[in-house]
Amino acid sequence: MSSALHRKNASLRPQALVHGGGVSDSLTLTPIGFIRTGKQVKFQARHQPVDGAEECNVLELLPGVNFDQALQDVAGFDRVWLLWWFHRNETWRPLVLPPRGPSRRRGVFATRSPHRPNPLGMTPVRLLGVEGRRLLLGACDLVEGTPVFDVKPYVPAYDAFPEAKAGWIDEVDALVNAPPRFTVNFASLAEEQAEWLRVEHQVDFTARLQELLSRDPTPHRTRRIRKRPSGGFEIGCGAWRATFTVTAEIVTVTALETGYPLRFLIREGYEAVPDREAQLAFLTRWPETAPE
Ligand SMILES: C[S@@+](CC[C@H](N)C(=O)[O-])C[C@H]1O[C@@H](n2cnc3c(N)ncnc32)[C@H](O)[C@@H]1O
Repeated sequence: MSSALHRKNASLRPQALVHGGGVSDSLTLTPIGFIRTGKQVKFQARHQPVDGAEECNVLELLPGVNFDQALQDVAGFDRVWLLWWFHRNETWRPLVLPPRGPSRRRGVFATRSPHRPNPLGMTPVRLLGVEGRRLLLGACDLVEGTPVFDVKPYVPAYDAFPEAKAGWIDEVDALVNAPPRFTVNFASLAEEQAEWLRVEHQVDFTARLQELLSRDPTPHRTRRIRKRPSGGFEIGCGAWRATFTVTAEIVTVTALETGYPLRFLIREGYEAVPDREAQLAFLTRWPETAPE
């Protein structure tokens, strides 16, 4: 646990809110603990927890403040809510671009985006066990070391309304569940690279590329698709990238690339970059694909 982090509070950045009445009503929150998820970078964390994913994350509550007592009776619940701090974000935006669906910004209060005026996250997680001050938790969407402010029981009778409308998210779900519009092919170089990564390094992101590109290959910031100045497009996929072209309704993945340039991969402090060894080996094998 970082004590510097513990001392930090979650108050807003000056640009975050303007109070009308001159009275600034604020609340200083202190984390009750920090979660261990092993996900060092944001793209490794899920957008929302997915049930059935085999994961065990550990929330360690702080010692010396009777939190073990506060956890009494919690073990009987299947799920708990975590209320937590998007502590890796600095700013907020009134309009945000959700990762799913068409490239269209939505009001932040109509989304679960991390870029909020009060950077608070809420996640219902499966409770696997309670050991002293440690909560063993199932799948969640928090990165390693995220400060947690509160734990509350998930009570289906209060918290679940499966028939409730979900606005633009229902519309996006309908689009996502429609048959894909684009056919995705791999050119021979991309095919060879994918096979090499699969066999030599057990890295395979081709299914994810298929899924994303067959639905909508148009540029999109949070889906990490952009037009390349040199022609064609690229998409970021975890720690990797792929270049592709689009002709009518056919997407051709032309090559794979590492997401990180060599100078980062060999720099001290970057040891935890996902697939680092595989990326270094890839750059030795295909040095011409190195990103700037
Ligand atoms: C879309 S948000 C949803 C969070 C929460 N379930 C909610 O609805 O409030 C989940 C994303 O937040 C990001 N994230 C996770 N932990 C974070 C942290 N400590 N600081 C900033 N961003 C974080 C990750 O990119 C993750 O995919």
